[in-house]
Amino acid sequence: MTIRVLFVCLGNICRSPMAEAVFQRLVDEAGLRDQFTIDSAGTSGWHVGEPAHRGTRSILRKNGIEYTGSARQLERADFNRFDYILAMDDENLAGLQRMAPDGSAAVIARFLDFDPAAPVSAVPDPYYDNNFEEVYLLVRQGAAALLAHIRQENSL
Ligand code: 4NP
Repeated sequence: MTIRVLFVCLGNICRSPMAEAVFQRLVDEAGLRDQFTIDSAGTSGWHVGEPAHRGTRSILRKNGIEYTGSARQLERADFNRFDYILAMDDENLAGLQRMAPDGSAAVIARFLDFDPAAPVSAVPDPYYDNNFEEVYLLVRQGAAALLAHIRQENSL
């Protein structure tokens, strides 16, 4: 049994791959790799098959994190494959709520809802302003808070 966590944004090239990679790193550092399955997806299919955005890869690399995933679109089956499905912003959350099948047991929430110290409730989209540095800091803090929450909730 693993705890399955899916990060969701619009394109699956900027924010959600960053969150996936950072969260995976924190899980690895905590020695919990075998307890987690971690992935990301986009509500849109616009960038399916593409590697993460150059800005995301660059800020991850600068922080010693390799990311080799490629974009995929969210699908209805994900609601049964994952325990936590985390939206980067309100629009992504609305998309998730619209798509969720009746009876899905997944926790559907905004990623930053688990970070009481977050200065904002949504991760701004660096696709438009290239602010990958600011987004990385938010994601890093948010991922640490999320992991602490999940560890507590699951006695890990
Ligand atoms: P993401 O960013 O949702 O964080 O991956 C975006 C990526 C692509 C587009 C918008 C946002 N786009 O318009 O193609």
